[in-house]
Amino acid sequence: MAEALLEMQAVALGYGTEPVLRGVDLSIERGQLVVICGTSGCGKSTLLKGAIGLLAPLEGHIRLLGEELVGLDEERLNRVRARVGLLFQGGALLNSLTVAENVALPLEQHTRLSPEVSRTLVRMKLAQVGLEGAWHKLPAELSGGMKKRVALARAMVLDPELLLCDEPSAGLDPVTAAGLDRLLLDLRDTMHITLVVVTHELQSIETIADRVVMVADGHLAFDGSLDEARRCPLPVVRDFFERRAARPEQAGRSLLERLSAAEVERR
Ligand SMILES: Nc1ncnc2c1ncn2[C@@H]1O[C@H](COP(=O)(O)OP(=O)(O)O)[C@@H](O)[C@H]1O
Ligand SMILES: [Mg+2]
Repeated sequence: MAEALLEMQAVALGYGTEPVLRGVDLSIERGQLVVICGTSGCGKSTLLKGAIGLLAPLEGHIRLLGEELVGLDEERLNRVRARVGLLFQGGALLNSLTVAENVALPLEQHTRLSPEVSRTLVRMKLAQVGLEGAWHKLPAELSGGMKKRVALARAMVLDPELLLCDEPSAGLDPVTAAGLDRLLLDLRDTMHITLVVVTHELQSIETIADRVVMVADGHLAFDGSLDEARRCPLPVVRDFFERRAARPEQAGRSLLERLSAAEVERR
């Protein structure tokens, strides 16, 4: 069996005493691109926060890159986190720093590389996301899609074994979003990075997913291949994949969400 980079066993996660998610069993093996989907507010971001120890589980065990996170001291937790790339929702660039300085931030935090080596790595990562020319630019001079690419370069600069992306294409137009999807696939295929991508964009899921995990009603409602997801008879899964208008309040929420995401992007 392939090596698991992330393993959750009987995990409950939440913010008070009441769990948002319970009974979560999840294993992410090397080389996969796993999509985590589900309607807004179902707990996708919460799941990712648990995965990297930003949120301690109320119950269960979480192993990240072989380390049990429960009870791990801050220093070792930071060391594990340095091996995981994060592209978080709203994980914005620092506006006063140039593109190159933004991408170099994790190198400064986690390594003692010389400025020359650091510059070389930053240049490589910017090239990987197709933004060699943006070195001196400030975030305000970039389009929404370019900002996402810079954030991706920053998430990749320490050559993570595992990359977690929370709604990477939120607020992007469909063409730019599709470009970002291709970039993620490229990272999987050329860099052999294991990716966990949270998205509720059906188009995106159908393009990139090796495996689909669906969160609904406080637990993992589905875990399988894209084909299995399409054939799954469970109502929550079918609603999601057939995008029935059966739940108008959810359709409304996701539209609002998109509008507010677009608003954020414009600022
Ligand atoms: N910091 C927090 N404190 C309290 N409740 C939270 C916090 N973050 C999220 N929640 C709640 O947890 C639930 C799941 O949120 P989240 O994981 O952000 O959903 P998703 O990413 O799927 O949209 C929601 O009901 C949300 O209101
Ligand atoms: Mg979220």
